[in-house]
Amino acid sequence: VIGPTTDLTIKNVNIAPDGFNRSTVLANGIFPGPVIRGNKGDRFRINVIDHLTDPTMLRSTSIHWHGIHQNQSAWADGVASVTQCPIAANDSFLYDFTIPDQAGTFWYHSHLATQYCDGLRGAFIVNDPQDPHRSRYEVDDESTIITLADWYHEPAKNADISGIPLTPYATLINGKGRWVNGTAVPLSVVNVVPGLRYRFRIIAMSCDTNFVFSIDQHTFTVIEADGENTAPLDVDSVQIYAGQRYSLVMKANQPIGNYWIRANPDARGFPGFDGGRNSAILRYVGAPVADPTTNDTSTNPLKESNLHALTNPAAPGAPYVGGADVNLLIRHDFDFNTFHYTMNGYPFIPPTVPVLLQILSGAQTAQDLLPKGSYYELPHNKVIELTLPGSAFELGGPHPFHLHGHSFSVVRSGDSDTYNYVNPVRRDTVNTGFADGNATIRFVTDNSGPWFLHCHIDWHLELGLAVVFAEDIPGVQANAVTPDAWDKLCPRYDSLDPGQ
Ligand code: C2O
Repeated sequence: VIGPTTDLTIKNVNIAPDGFNRSTVLANGIFPGPVIRGNKGDRFRINVIDHLTDPTMLRSTSIHWHGIHQNQSAWADGVASVTQCPIAANDSFLYDFTIPDQAGTFWYHSHLATQYCDGLRGAFIVNDPQDPHRSRYEVDDESTIITLADWYHEPAKNADISGIPLTPYATLINGKGRWVNGTAVPLSVVNVVPGLRYRFRIIAMSCDTNFVFSIDQHTFTVIEADGENTAPLDVDSVQIYAGQRYSLVMKANQPIGNYWIRANPDARGFPGFDGGRNSAILRYVGAPVADPTTNDTSTNPLKESNLHALTNPAAPGAPYVGGADVNLLIRHDFDFNTFHYTMNGYPFIPPTVPVLLQILSGAQTAQDLLPKGSYYELPHNKVIELTLPGSAFELGGPHPFHLHGHSFSVVRSGDSDTYNYVNPVRRDTVNTGFADGNATIRFVTDNSGPWFLHCHIDWHLELGLAVVFAEDIPGVQANAVTPDAWDKLCPRYDSLDPGQ
């Protein structure tokens, strides 16, 4: 665990977390990367030092703090080609931002092409020492983080070259798993004391796979989704998509023993899949050191549409479909000729000049931003309603879409066909569901910046499944404070032709 002021050194390290040895891209040499912890109100100064050398993977990098709104600090959002130029090998870059009004479970990951699939992912926890809702979930221990990740046996760059997503070989829970042909490396163990109540933070650090998470013979109360408090909801399993997080309160109320923690992956990939590889162990103090012999007992899955925001729950805008100031429908498709995803007809092709730099160089409208077609200008202080249709399995669905710069109200979930403007859950990554449905979200444009909206299946992002919301272009130009370090990464913007 490291604090709000820290170095993150990015380097290539050989590890075998599932019994297969490969070169990876890691923060401070470990997988997952070190947990970054701080408090609401803290100023974070995280110096990212690039020591990458392995030519089979990207040697540049950039780091995104997933879920952090970056109010007044869009330059620190960490998205190569949107808010910054990549950090070059042997260079470093100081991310310096304050988190005034957010607390909960976040994560960080490379946001350069598909580099995070090579390992660069970690947890980012913001505590609220004055959490007014603490008594609601009074727990004895809230230190447990359970990360879920799909794991690959070849460099992510191979997918960029072939255009075909890689197939994961194992699920890593807290960095440990078992490849079907690998040696039986020890599984991750979560220790609990009988009778105590725990807050478990579940983070899907996935490149692709979604997981159904459960613990045999145990039930949970959901209290947080993606850094937003929820009204307590009792469930015994949660399906969690790439980029999403949940906090689950669990009482260790079963007989002393060992219980399987399960993260069952969806159907894509996993050659020779066998369920035991996707597991970790919940071990009560006093239980023998042994594998569990328990069975999956879950019967009460989380349905997102049953999840509600805890405070000020109403969605912004008028409470009917199309009742926002700006109502957007962005359809996606797949173009088999170019082998790219498109959104309203255009694949997202990363610009050479980052979008923020284009705006600071004088771009006035979305039409000025290049390459054309992937930009939507959002006016300041308006309510936006965005509808994202679901997707057939054959088109890679269901797609989890993540919006940078905001949390949003999910007025219609991918798993539901009704709208809820009264008390929808707020979050930052939403499953858009299958082809017969859609997800509809609402948010207020109170945060100037170029904000990425993209499928968090990293292979799909690389194939163009993204757009950028240019929110309040005049505000970005008027208020942008970019540090010298940012200027240094990119060519001077006052002399730039944004179209180059
Ligand atoms: Cu978690 Cu655009 O990313």
